[in-house]
Amino acid sequence: MRSSLRALALTATAGACVAAYASAVERNWFILRQFEIPVLPAGAVPLRVLHLSDVHLTPGRHRLLSWIRSLHTLDPDLVVNTGDSIAHTQAVRPFLAALGPLLERPGVFVYGSNDLYSPIPKNPLRYLYDSKVKLRHGPDLPWAELGEGMAAAGWLDANNQRGRIKAGDLDIEVGGVHDSHIRRDDYDLIAGPADPAADLRLGVMHSPEPRVMDQFAADGYDLLLAGHTHGGQVCLPGYGSLVTNCGIDRERAQGLHRHPAQGEPDRPWLHVSAGLGPSPGAPSRFSCRPEASLLTLVPRIG
Ligand SMILES: [Fe+2]
Repeated sequence: MRSSLRALALTATAGACVAAYASAVERNWFILRQFEIPVLPAGAVPLRVLHLSDVHLTPGRHRLLSWIRSLHTLDPDLVVNTGDSIAHTQAVRPFLAALGPLLERPGVFVYGSNDLYSPIPKNPLRYLYDSKVKLRHGPDLPWAELGEGMAAAGWLDANNQRGRIKAGDLDIEVGGVHDSHIRRDDYDLIAGPADPAADLRLGVMHSPEPRVMDQFAADGYDLLLAGHTHGGQVCLPGYGSLVTNCGIDRERAQGLHRHPAQGEPDRPWLHVSAGLGPSPGAPSRFSCRPEASLLTLVPRIG
C-alpha cells in the first residue's frame, strides 16, 4: 500500500514537472530550422525564404516578440506568413511592429482561423483530441486590420487569390487559399494551371489539407507552404506528433516533405511549419520547440 502511494506521488510529481517545463520553458525555447530545397530552374540564384506561422500573439509575450524582431538579420529575400498570427484584440500593432524591417521585403500572407476567432481556454491535453474551432456568430478578432497592415507594406494577400511577386532575381507566381480548417478555402477562385513561364510556382495555405494540396499539385505548383499543425504541439520523444488537427498524416506534421508523400519525382515540395506559439487556449509545447524556418531555394538537381 505504501509503495503504491509512493509510486502515485512520484507519477504526480513527474507530471507536474513536465507540465511546468512545457508551459514555462519549451514554449519560449525558439529555434530556427533551415532547409535547402532544389526547386529552382538551372542557373537561378538561390532564394532565401523566411517561413513564419502560428505566432498566436497575446499580450505579454515579450520573448516571442524579441525573437521575431531578430529575424530580419537573416536577410531573407521573401517572407511567407501562413497564418494564426494573432490571438487577442490588441495583438495586431505589436505583431506588425515585431515584423519591423521584414515588412520592407517581399512578402505573402494567408489567414488562419485564429486570426478571426479568439481562443477559448481548455485543458492543454484537449489539443490532442479536440481540434474543432468553436465558431461564434462572427469573427471577434481584428483580422482585417492585420491584413491591411501587411498589405499596406506591399505583402501579397493570398487568401483565395493568385498573384505575382518579384523576390531576389525571381519571378514568382503565387496561389493561396484561406483556412480550410474553417472551410473558408475556395480553390475554385484560383484554379487553373500555374504559369510555366514563372521561375517558381508557390502555393500558400494555413492548414495542409490533402484535398487542397492535391489541387495545387495538379495545377503544377512547385512548392507548398503551410502551418496549422503546431508540429503536434505535445509530442512523444522518439515518436513525434500524436495529432495533426487536419487531414495530413502525422509523419508530415512538420518539416520538409513532398506531396503526395509517394509519387512522381517532380511532385511539389511541401514545408509544414510547426509554428511559433501554442494556442493560448492550450499554452504548452512538449518535445516540439516553437520554430521559424529559413528555406534556401536552389536549382533542381540534374
Ligand atoms: Fe495555430
